[in-house]
Amino acid sequence: MTHINSQQPTLEVKNLNVALRGGQRLLRQVSLAVKPGEVRALVGESGAGKSMIGKAVLGVLPRNIEITSGEILLQGENLDQHSAAQRRQTVAATASLIPQDPLTALNPSRRIGPQITERLVKRLGWRQDAAQARALELLERVYIRDPKRVMSSYPHELSGGMRQRVLIAAAFAPKPKLIVADEPTTALDVTVQKQILRLIRELQAESGTAVLFVTHDMGVVAKISQTVTVLFAGKVMESADTASIFANPQHPYTRALISATPRYTHPDEPMRPVPAELITALAQEVALSDVNGGSHG
Ligand SMILES: Nc1ncnc2c1ncn2[C@@H]1O[C@H](COP(=O)(O)OP(=O)(O)O)[C@@H](O)[C@H]1O
Ligand SMILES: [Mg+2]
Repeated sequence: MTHINSQQPTLEVKNLNVALRGGQRLLRQVSLAVKPGEVRALVGESGAGKSMIGKAVLGVLPRNIEITSGEILLQGENLDQHSAAQRRQTVAATASLIPQDPLTALNPSRRIGPQITERLVKRLGWRQDAAQARALELLERVYIRDPKRVMSSYPHELSGGMRQRVLIAAAFAPKPKLIVADEPTTALDVTVQKQILRLIRELQAESGTAVLFVTHDMGVVAKISQTVTVLFAGKVMESADTASIFANPQHPYTRALISATPRYTHPDEPMRPVPAELITALAQEVALSDVNGGSHG
């Protein structure tokens, strides 16, 4: 029997532990949830494990890395109970990725059109003409002026900003319930970054898609998200509403990240990087809790 529950999270990650096969721990007891219509930022410095969470959710972890314990649920379904093929099918039907680097994410030797329609046709069973129409609709929606021409262009014929628009169109085309956006504006220049953030927010708001938005930038967190999870060394430091994280950060690492963000309102204030002593102390704390086994699933 299925139960209709509007509060059921689209994505639920429960006590997730991920490690190099037979070795180093990369994610430690990570739990987070994203509800329909919610944008949750996942923030932390480089190497914290943000992309690893995204890869675990989408089922694309590198071969040398494994989930040692924990659960990932998409719309309440536990993916571990699926075969690899079922899992790929469920993920393809439910979730999309907006990647960090729009150039490497596109195949340079193929035209844009088929790169958008292929997943719709091959994975999701759309008719070719319906997929084609949907691709054109989305390209228009991301403010591409001549979508027909772009469909028959090659990636190198487009600017970085245009390529990221194409990837946003491709991510939203199958009407996913969840989008993982992994630093989608990091490779772009500042003015384009702003347009792309606005575009993701617009499409997210009108489709009600749940978004897990990976970033290292608290300025982006403030602009895009309603909720935020702060990650350090593969461990959640703090999770809260975005407004309360800024108004009343609980964890010293969160406070340090906020202080390390350029203040748009006070451009004269100097930016302070996250203090090295704090990072060392936190890393020791995490290592100690590993040894004590307190955080193993
Ligand atoms: N393919 C890999 N093999 C081994 N270690 C990896 C691999 N990919 C990432 N890592 C390690 O996992 C940790 C988390 O990486 P990642 O999720 O990419 O961080 P973030 O996205 O927060 O910058 C880092 O310590 C990184 O060096
Ligand atoms: Mg990353």
